[in-house]
Amino acid sequence: MLNKIQSLLEEIDTLNASNSEELENLRIKYLSKKGAVAALMADFRDVPVEQKKEVGIKINELKTKAFDKINALRAQLESSDNTAELEAFDITRSAYPVRLGTRHPLSLVKNEIKDIFSRLGFSLAEGPEVEDDWHVFGAMNFADDHPARDMQDTFFIESHPDVILRTHTSSVQSRVMEHTQPPIRIICPGRVYRNEAISARAHCFFHQVEGLYVDKDVSFTDLKQVLLLFAREMFGEDTQIRLRPSYFPFTEPSAEMDISCHLCGGKGCSFCKGTGWVEILGCGMVDPAVLDLNGIDSKIYKGYAFGMGVERIANLKYQVKDLRMFSENDKRFLQEFTAAN
Ligand code: DAH
Repeated sequence: MLNKIQSLLEEIDTLNASNSEELENLRIKYLSKKGAVAALMADFRDVPVEQKKEVGIKINELKTKAFDKINALRAQLESSDNTAELEAFDITRSAYPVRLGTRHPLSLVKNEIKDIFSRLGFSLAEGPEVEDDWHVFGAMNFADDHPARDMQDTFFIESHPDVILRTHTSSVQSRVMEHTQPPIRIICPGRVYRNEAISARAHCFFHQVEGLYVDKDVSFTDLKQVLLLFAREMFGEDTQIRLRPSYFPFTEPSAEMDISCHLCGGKGCSFCKGTGWVEILGCGMVDPAVLDLNGIDSKIYKGYAFGMGVERIANLKYQVKDLRMFSENDKRFLQEFTAAN
């Protein structure tokens, strides 16, 4: 019996397992109820009394050795499993699927407007959103008692009544004219603020793009031609425009421009309220008083200007029914524009 134990002890030294299944088989072979150690224990009863001590010690040695060996093999397998995992791990892979964002619909429309006018020779100009009364109203020829200055429309800062949030991007016209002599050909995109209750059709902030051209011999025909080109680039080749007389303090004459409804092709539908036309912008010849107020000689120079709402154009292009969608950052809405990016 001692010989048998000795050969088992030697056998255990040579054991190896290359996967957990092999390891489990070894455990069963040596340590389970039907394993080699248990069999020796069973035979122990028949060992003569004088050998019992020696054999007992040897069986225990075998048991411990088998136990330690199997544990060591298990540890080895686990750590090599890890290595395999580490080797398969690609550190250049991103940690989680990254969803690409999409451009905001207002940015898409603004970029398109910028693109069209830049091809027509307009450059970009910007001005501050926190403005003073002069640039928003005074320099734009608003009379002191003009209703647009009313607290109802304009956000004032109580302690500094001269500091306001601009109500239109026309203020940038003045910002540019006060330090630039003609020729001036600019568009000014930007955010504007009005003291309005927020609803599906109105918001306390929105976006505009202002246009200004000042040079010698600028005529209303030039204005109309540029706007026709713009409308066709933006809404399609068949688009018609019409100009209706209007009033703005900073232009004379002034007009509002409609485009033929691109949904019904001008036949009349619920979108254009049956008229076949939808309004898209205000425009006119720069009032000579505005040129003079901003340091440009109105006897030498003339100009035209126009201003449009970006939300308005985005609505026409994408039929967004509720203005609030543009500022709520609802991903379900924003992701609808993935294809347009
Ligand atoms: N500033 C006007 C508004 O906010 C829009 C506008 C109309 C701008 C006519 C212009 C213009 O430059 O000529 O309603």
